Amino acid sequence: MTPPHTHEGHSHPLRPGHGPAPEHDTGLAELLDLDAALGAPVLTAALDAASAALGTAPRRVVDLGAGTGTGTLALAARFPGGRVHALDASPGMLDRLGAAARTAQVADRVETHLVDLDGDWPAVLPGAADLAWAALSLHHVTDPAQVLRQAFEALRPGGVLVVLEMTGATAYVPGDLGTGRAGLGDRLVAALAELGYPVTAEWTTALTATGFAPVRRHELAVTASGGTAEGARYLALQLAMNRARLAEDLSAEDLAALDTAIAALGAGTSEVALSSGRAVWTAVRPGAGR
Ligand SMILES: C[S@@+](CC[C@H](N)C(=O)[O-])C[C@H]1O[C@@H](n2cnc3c(N)ncnc32)[C@H](O)[C@@H]1O
Repeated sequence: MTPPHTHEGHSHPLRPGHGPAPEHDTGLAELLDLDAALGAPVLTAALDAASAALGTAPRRVVDLGAGTGTGTLALAARFPGGRVHALDASPGMLDRLGAAARTAQVADRVETHLVDLDGDWPAVLPGAADLAWAALSLHHVTDPAQVLRQAFEALRPGGVLVVLEMTGATAYVPGDLGTGRAGLGDRLVAALAELGYPVTAEWTTALTATGFAPVRRHELAVTASGGTAEGARYLALQLAMNRARLAEDLSAEDLAALDTAIAALGAGTSEVALSSGRAVWTAVRPGAGR
């Protein structure tokens, strides 16, 4: 499967009005939370890579485009001596993040900042950061090169920026989603790619051009299985959202088969699994400081 967008920088929706939805869309917050649960192994691997690149535990951490707090909470849990500054332009996301931080009992080490990453966001930080984290957010900003320059300047020498994005390598098993309609999963993935989903981005060149060195890129995958309650809920929500997006693009037979697959997930009788690729970059601001 060819990823829909693998060029350097962020990709755009291919058709006006059909592109990636705004972050406040209904269902996105729940999908982000489920994504967090299912993506925990990928987060752990990214945190391992950050720790290895840093050498010492970070004390000041900044989460750029923190959303509902997937990264913020994982960072706070992983680095108990650290304070995490969670930045986002969405008040709703930050409210949810604040509540999650209280539930996780890390609110005393998490500060939310309602701020636009296309503005002077480093001004909210009390000093140089040891670790910056940008998960599924860098492709949203208007001028990623500027945000990378700001992140570079906001880090201490030896500090590390971690960037996570989707790779577009998506596969459903079995390919008929358990419906008997051969090739349904591949047609779904291809039709979504035509509409610009998932949004993917490549940052190796931009990170290197900013001055980060070394810049390392790892590929990992998030998997969801209909055989677990969380996986089934995630797949049902995700397929329902995609079915709505593709109502004019798939055949009536494929749409009916998708309905069957969604119903089976809701009933807990589906064994469909999804694998979704993630790219993780660790980029070091050169200089002293380990
Ligand atoms: C796909 S979500 C990812 C959230 C979180 N990092 C995660 O991994 O689950 C992208 C987030 O970036 C935020 N965002 C997008 N553009 C932004 C901007 N210009 N300034 C601040 N936040 C922005 C959105 O509000 C949203 O919460």
